[in-house]
Amino acid sequence: MSVNMVAVASMATPSITISFTNSKSLTLSSSSSQLPSCWPSSNSTLRRHPSSCALTLRCGAAVFASSSSPFTSPNSNSSSVIVAALGIDAQSERDYEPLQVMISGAPASGKGTQCELIKHKYGLVHVAAGDLLRAEIATGSDNGKLAKQYMEKGQLVPDHIVVMMVKDRLLKPDAKDNGWLLDGYPRSLSQATALKGFGFQPDIFILLEVSEDILVERVVGRRLDPVTGKIYHLKYSPPETEEIAARLTQRFDDTEEKVKLRLNTHHQNVEAVLSMYKDITVKINGNVSKEEVFAQIDSALTSLLEQRKAASGSVAA
Ligand code: AP5
Repeated sequence: MSVNMVAVASMATPSITISFTNSKSLTLSSSSSQLPSCWPSSNSTLRRHPSSCALTLRCGAAVFASSSSPFTSPNSNSSSVIVAALGIDAQSERDYEPLQVMISGAPASGKGTQCELIKHKYGLVHVAAGDLLRAEIATGSDNGKLAKQYMEKGQLVPDHIVVMMVKDRLLKPDAKDNGWLLDGYPRSLSQATALKGFGFQPDIFILLEVSEDILVERVVGRRLDPVTGKIYHLKYSPPETEEIAARLTQRFDDTEEKVKLRLNTHHQNVEAVLSMYKDITVKINGNVSKEEVFAQIDSALTSLLEQRKAASGSVAA
């Protein structure tokens, strides 16, 4: 897909199109034969509107704004991808600190599904430990091979692999600038302690509560679209077209047998993790439809954001 950046300061300045080649690469093109000389330069800044995914690029006196608001890319963190690819600083227009959110719950409780909705509304950077591990497996590295052995048994991947992986991702500028949404991490006391030691403290710990029979049904019916990354369920969230249905894949650990192992691991660790965040935990009824689950989360995040804005206003006043 592409995002048009239209000059709003000077009609003489050419418009710019950012095209997403895939989740990591972009191409920049302009309506003139060359990109404006100011792009990208060290004094260019990319602004992200807090309430949407719209972008503004400032090149000296020229100001470019994305014509579509909000926009989506085939994969997550579209604006973050742009910031990273251009190697320029993201500056936020908000005058309050971005949210830092943790979401937890048993396997298939709906963490990934809710993260998509949260990310879309609040613009947080989604960091999912399971996705980081699957990406490592895809590289064929030794760490990836070892991680897969644990994931196939439904066990936690050792800390020496996962702890630094998550820390490094949270330290990236997009997570610092936009706030983060940490999914499926920490899953043990040692991970929670390490995270605290690195100085990462969430504002809220969301716990999705779902009964066990529903979890098994959700795991067995889950399918993924390798092209868009979208999560489907054969019964609750079926693919929109036959073309999508034909390309859906199933995760290697999404069998009834393996989910039982994953559930055991979850039960062994959940209380220890909860004890670290009990003051900021919000329990959500995850047994209902994804829209109803999101309504509960949205209400908690909105009130947190309002408190933060009010606090920031009173400091400024
Ligand atoms: P990970 O990938 O994190 O798996 P998980 O925790 O088992 O969670 P899932 O991704 O299975 O489910 P989800 O809660 O995101 O549910 P989803 O939204 O997809 O971890 C995999 C493995 O990696 C672990 O077993 C472990 O080995 C390793 N690992 C991960 N983190 C680690 C860590 N910190 N340390 C060490 N090892 C780690 O939804 C599921 C299905 O239900 C979908 O089909 C969806 O469409 C459907 N659905 C969702 N919500 C609803 C709803 N409300 N109503 C109806 N259907 C719904």
